[in-house]
Amino acid sequence: MSAVATDQLIRPHGGVLAPRAGGRPDDLDSLEVVSLSSRELSDLDMLASGALSPLQGFMGRGDYESVVESMRLANGLPWALPVCLAVAEVPHGDRVALADESGRALAVLDVEDVYPYDQEREAERCFRTTDGEHPGVARLYAQHDLYLAGSVTVFERLEPSFPELHRDPADTRALFAERGWKRVVGFQTRNPIHRAHEYLTKCALETVDGLLIHPLVGETKSDDVPAAVRVEAYRVLTEDYYPADRVVVSAFPAAMRYAGPREAIWHAICRKNYGCSHFIVGRDHAGVGTYYGTYDAQLIFDELEPHELDIEPMFFEHSFWCKACGQMATAKTCPHGGDDHVFLSGTKVRELLSEGQLPPEEFTRPEVAEILVEAYRGA
Ligand code: ADX
Repeated sequence: MSAVATDQLIRPHGGVLAPRAGGRPDDLDSLEVVSLSSRELSDLDMLASGALSPLQGFMGRGDYESVVESMRLANGLPWALPVCLAVAEVPHGDRVALADESGRALAVLDVEDVYPYDQEREAERCFRTTDGEHPGVARLYAQHDLYLAGSVTVFERLEPSFPELHRDPADTRALFAERGWKRVVGFQTRNPIHRAHEYLTKCALETVDGLLIHPLVGETKSDDVPAAVRVEAYRVLTEDYYPADRVVVSAFPAAMRYAGPREAIWHAICRKNYGCSHFIVGRDHAGVGTYYGTYDAQLIFDELEPHELDIEPMFFEHSFWCKACGQMATAKTCPHGGDDHVFLSGTKVRELLSEGQLPPEEFTRPEVAEILVEAYRGA
């Protein structure tokens, strides 16, 4: 991508992008190999791209303790979730190779520390529950007992699952600058874009220059709609219903943690690195089951001073189609009662789809519904 001045855009978290890509070292074959889980691989790739700036590697004890306890890195900069690498044993050397599940080496880590951590405490502080049924907590409890800390140099990037949607923070920034956008709103999603999502993104876009639809394509829980199906739905919906010169659809390679409030802040910080000045937080952002209150992921932003994050959260209430209004609305903008409102739970939608029925048009546009029904038919 050609060099474009990106100085009109929001600065990255901590001031500068810190991508951790580099050359393959000569001593690679002599290094001990540590295999990464799917979540850790996603984090590694985001370290490589600078999406986790200013982090330069997997967190050391000081940053970890401070993040878990007070949502800040040791230097005071806000940071909501640990980015850690769990290992079973202390490695022998002072450098290790990091490999994917098949053993292919991708990166080198300069060992700075190896330390024990308290899984229940991390669960309680970061997920607000110690319940092993929570998918993020379950993953935490299944991890090895030690955290291996150190800066990383990634010499081989992961194969992107959706090459046409692959853009690193430097790429989205260049693209926004090329289009002359200064104020850009980011939208996180792990679902197909239903009418509610469309409403939020379009309301937000009315007040800024551009919209980054940034679906998460890393690991999700097994009953979430697979990324490939969602990506097809994003393509169809944006082609038909969004102006091409105001929207960018790009993949966010993170794994879902389902940490609700803390993940909302973490998501916002990452999107700031991609160049977004604003970030949408609706109902139960990054939530799962009934672990979080509907607006907990909005309230948590009060724990930080707005200037500290810089990126501005745009909060939305629970939105629905109102038959009496004849449009999408929220309790803020609609005076009618629940009988007029069309809202379906995820479970209800899945039920309809598995019976081969299209969800109502007021809930999901037919173009998207068709893709979902087709995917469920094949499942
Ligand atoms: S999430 O795990 O990525 O948050 P999802 O893809 O469902 O799940 O949500 C994407 C964003 O849209 C989140 O900010 C969420 O709060 C918001 N959202 C989803 N559905 C609604 C709704 N009906 N009303 C308001 N906000 C919503």
